[in-house]
Amino acid sequence: MSDAPEVQVKATSNGIPVPSFDLPLPDRPEIITANIQKLTELTPNPRNRFIFKALIKHLHQFINETSLTTEEWMAAIDFLTRTGQKCTPLRQETILLSDVLGVSALVDSLNNPIAGGATENSVLGPFLTEDAADVNFGESIASEGKGDYMYVEGRILTTDGQPIPNAVIETWETDANGFYDIQYEDRTHPDCRGRLRSGDDGRFGYRAVVPVAYPIPGDGPVGELLLLLGRHNMRPNHLHMMVEAPGFHKLVTAFYPDGCDYLRSDSVFGVKKSLVVNLKDIVDDEEARKRGFPHGDSFKLLQYDIVLLTEEQSTAMRAGIEEERYTITEIIKSTKS
Ligand code: BEZ
Ligand code: FE
Repeated sequence: MSDAPEVQVKATSNGIPVPSFDLPLPDRPEIITANIQKLTELTPNPRNRFIFKALIKHLHQFINETSLTTEEWMAAIDFLTRTGQKCTPLRQETILLSDVLGVSALVDSLNNPIAGGATENSVLGPFLTEDAADVNFGESIASEGKGDYMYVEGRILTTDGQPIPNAVIETWETDANGFYDIQYEDRTHPDCRGRLRSGDDGRFGYRAVVPVAYPIPGDGPVGELLLLLGRHNMRPNHLHMMVEAPGFHKLVTAFYPDGCDYLRSDSVFGVKKSLVVNLKDIVDDEEARKRGFPHGDSFKLLQYDIVLLTEEQSTAMRAGIEEERYTITEIIKSTKS
C-alpha cells in the first residue's frame, strides 16, 4: 500500500460570471446572511428562488437563535453523512429521518388537502412491494396462522356517495409478530398483502389478520436520534391501503385500530384522527366460518368506506391551499412593512 495522500476530485468552473452587483466584504456575521440572500436573488427559476430564500433565512435564523457551536454543527454534518451512507436499495434512512421529524407527514398533508369527506392520506412507508397476489372478494391476504382473524370491508365512493367500481386496492400489513413479509430472510412468497378490485357497487371485502405495533429500524443514525430525543421508535398497529381508479386522485392511507398505546405518539406521525377505527368483536362461530375463516370461533371486523377525490377536485383543493398560503404570506409581509 502506498502512503501517498488520496487525490481530490479536480473541479472545473461552472461558467457562471461574477454578479453584476457588488457585495460588501463581511465585517460582522449579519453581512454573511445578507450577502447570500442577495446572491440567491440570482436564482433563475422563481419557485427555486422563493424556496431557497426561505431556506437560507430560516437556517441562518436557527443558527443564530441556538448559537450553534462548531462541535454541534460538525456532529450534524457527521449525522447527515452517516444517514446517507446507511441507504441501500432496500433501506432508505433519509426518508426515515424525514418521517421521524414529521416532515413526510406534513408535506403529504399539505399536498393532499381533503374535503367533502374524502379519506385522508397516511405515510406510505418502505414495505409496499410490487408482487402482491390478486385477491378476490372475500379471500384472504394472509396465510393461515399469521395472526388473529380480521375481516375488512367497505366501499370505494365518490364525495357524493356514488360507488367507484373496479378501483385497484393494494393492502399490506404486519403479521402477529409485528413483521412485514419482506422482513423475513426466508420469504418465499408475498404474505399479509394483496391486490383487490372494488365491485360494481364499489364494495370490497377480504380476510386479513389483526396488525401488530412494531418498531421502525433503530440500528442506524435515525435510531440514535430517537434515543437522543428520548422518543420510542414504535408505530401503532395499522393496515395500509393504496387505492387507484382512473380519473381519481391516488390515495395512500392506513387505518389505525383504537386502543393502541402508541396511537398518540406514532414515531412517524402517520396517524390522523379520521383514520382511527374501531374493530368490532364478532364472537360467532357460524359467521366466522361463513366469512371463510377456517377455525371459525370469532374475528375482528374493520368497516370503512373510502372516499376518493377526482383529479379535478384534488387539483382545485391544492390550488385553493396555495392561494391561501400566498395570501397569508402577503398579509405577514404587509404588516411588517
Ligand atoms: C410503515 O408504516 O410501514 C412505515 C412508515 C414509515 C416509516 C417506517 C415504516
Ligand atoms: Fe406500516
